[in-house]
Amino acid sequence: MANAFDMVLFGGGGDLSLRKLIPALYRAHKEGGLAEGSRILPICRRQGDVDKYLETAQDALKKHLREGEYSESVWREFSQMLRAVNVDIAKLDEHWDELADILGADEERVRLFYLAIPPAVFGICCENLSLKGLINRQSRVVVEKPLGYNAQTADEINSKIATYFPETSIFRIDHYLGKETVQNLLALRFSNVLFEHLWDAKTIDHIQISIAETVGLEGRAGFYDETGALRDMVQNHLLQLLCLIAMESPNSMSAKNIRAEKIKVLEALRPLVGEKVDENIVRGQYVAGGYDTELVPGYLEELEAATSNTETFVAIRAHIDNWRWAGVPFYLRTGKRMEKRYAEIVIQYKDVSHHVYEESAGPVVPNRLVIRLQPEESIKLMLMAKKMDSLTMELQPAELNLTLSDTYDSFRSDAYKRLMLDAAADNPALFIHREEVAAAWAWVDPIIEHWRETDSQPQLYRAGSWGPQAANELLERDGRHWFNAQ
Ligand code: BG6
Repeated sequence: MANAFDMVLFGGGGDLSLRKLIPALYRAHKEGGLAEGSRILPICRRQGDVDKYLETAQDALKKHLREGEYSESVWREFSQMLRAVNVDIAKLDEHWDELADILGADEERVRLFYLAIPPAVFGICCENLSLKGLINRQSRVVVEKPLGYNAQTADEINSKIATYFPETSIFRIDHYLGKETVQNLLALRFSNVLFEHLWDAKTIDHIQISIAETVGLEGRAGFYDETGALRDMVQNHLLQLLCLIAMESPNSMSAKNIRAEKIKVLEALRPLVGEKVDENIVRGQYVAGGYDTELVPGYLEELEAATSNTETFVAIRAHIDNWRWAGVPFYLRTGKRMEKRYAEIVIQYKDVSHHVYEESAGPVVPNRLVIRLQPEESIKLMLMAKKMDSLTMELQPAELNLTLSDTYDSFRSDAYKRLMLDAAADNPALFIHREEVAAAWAWVDPIIEHWRETDSQPQLYRAGSWGPQAANELLERDGRHWFNAQ
């Protein structure tokens, strides 16, 4: 467990803090993950918000914790750790001195500055921390996407932060890396002899990575319309998952070694430029539709705009041009307002090289490894087996089910909790290095550039469906299909 630390939570009253960070810290405390004496200092711009912070945080916990997780006694203890402070990030006034007084002069006490604020104010926030002498030897800064809008703006943001913090003290969160099954993907690959030998173009036909959401804009219309699905989900979460699937075995699980392997993957991604963009990518935007009895508005209605060509869905056929993956397509897909919420990686193996059974035994379905990240966390291997009790030889698909909740209490799983505790313990393995951010943007930028140049219009899909028909055709052209969640 990390020693006692102080977490200064800029944007303490914001959506991310109340929905994700405070509940994650509560869970960490409940499980004994926060050393005694640790303090959480949410920063609010208005004194009024400071005065009612405990009430706000308690309401947020009741709303966002899972059923049965909230308890009055844990809250009483946890609330002792919370102390909201009134600071206006942009103004270098006496309020910062109050924060300085609370933090004290201990050079060895870990300080985490969590910037749950827009990137536009990262620079001024770090500058003021520095001017007020608040950055001690054990200070780390935790930041989260959107880290820029393209390679250039990401570089500007990273450079600003780098003026005040060395790279080793910058923890860039991609919350997908904190998900249990994502970490299990690495354990599966690099702690079993079984899979690694069957993890390349010789045996794998193709790979699918889907992150489907049922939510729409969730009150983030302005941000989302400027961002779109490619920047919001692909540049970070989907490419990170792709890296973990495709990378070579690192020499050790150190952050440096993992990063080196991930960067090789990003650099081997075949560039999609010019007309290659249209051949390999489908963009979509949802129109009104629904789920069972619930009707939901379309993107433009939610946005309250007459037009927008922002994509809320994207499907991509990507290739990694290296020895291991030559010729294996990676199909990536994400969208808002899709039929079901789920995130899944499918490793589709090739067919057996020769069919030995008579046709009457039934078809041989090629093996498939299915790694489900959410809503439940499971790993399943689809195999062929003999049909039990059949007098003749009949084959049937069977499932080797490694559902993790049997051995792991999924109740406790929380990506933010894991990542915050890692930052406190100075363990950067699950965080993103500046070079990874740059390499991911280098692949994404020409795609957006092509869309801009050609005034690309997204294809429409009904809310509650699996996306535009063109996304199905993208795979059908290759003789394949998406494995949608059942
Ligand atoms: C965020 C995106 O990074 O990830 C959101 O900005 C998206 O648009 C969210 O809804 C999805 O995260 P999760 O963990 O709910 O799948």
